[in-house]
Amino acid sequence: MRVHVADHRLIAHKLTYLRDKRTDSPTFRRLAEELMTLLAYEATRDVRVEPFEIETPVAPTTGIKLSNPKPLVVPILRAGLGMLEGMVRLLPSAEVGFLGMQRNEETLEAITYANRLPDNLHGRQVYVLDPMLATGGSMVDAIRFLLDRGADDITAVTLLAAPEGVARMEADLADVTPPITLVTGAIDERLNEHGYIVPGLGDAGDRLYGVV
Ligand code: PRP
Ligand code: URA
Repeated sequence: MRVHVADHRLIAHKLTYLRDKRTDSPTFRRLAEELMTLLAYEATRDVRVEPFEIETPVAPTTGIKLSNPKPLVVPILRAGLGMLEGMVRLLPSAEVGFLGMQRNEETLEAITYANRLPDNLHGRQVYVLDPMLATGGSMVDAIRFLLDRGADDITAVTLLAAPEGVARMEADLADVTPPITLVTGAIDERLNEHGYIVPGLGDAGDRLYGVV
């Protein structure tokens, strides 16, 4: 697996306000979107393109344009929804599929409660969005789901990650070719006894949308 930690002061600055427990939901939502847009630069570095002939007012030249089929962006509900606008702002022609996953807070196992995705993902470049990679269970299950539908080029984008979650992805997805890419805003210290990232930012879904 390829792991890229976005090392940028603006990302660290925005993450600091996102982590702060005094940050209210409207500000949290805005920051999550902005952070996603910044991470999208890294995540789309290898987006598939093809040559494109144009004429400038001065001369003909060859540029590039996004290839077809267009990339598929998959936010993991709920909290991944908070990153979607930030991603499609940069990649407006992307298609969007949805996966609903919920972690059982006792067992820390994820269940999939909804999916709305194309049946066939062969040849599609897929970007999976979830702000939090904690134990890694939700992300590994989501990626396995996409692989089962034929996806063969998957980039996971998270705002924060725990070392335990990165290690789980490395171990559980070691057999995947081409390898999965993980782009994250930071790798924090550890998980606590409740499976929360330390220092983290708390429950991302609750901070975005309220306690359920
Ligand atoms: C959170 C988060 C991830 C998951 C991470 O979602 O958004 O999906 O937990 O934990 P893991 O790496 O240990 O699986 P949650 O299940 O709380 O659902 P929500 O987005 O609806 O709040
Ligand atoms: N899910 C969250 O929203 N936050 C964590 O720290 C861990 C899992």
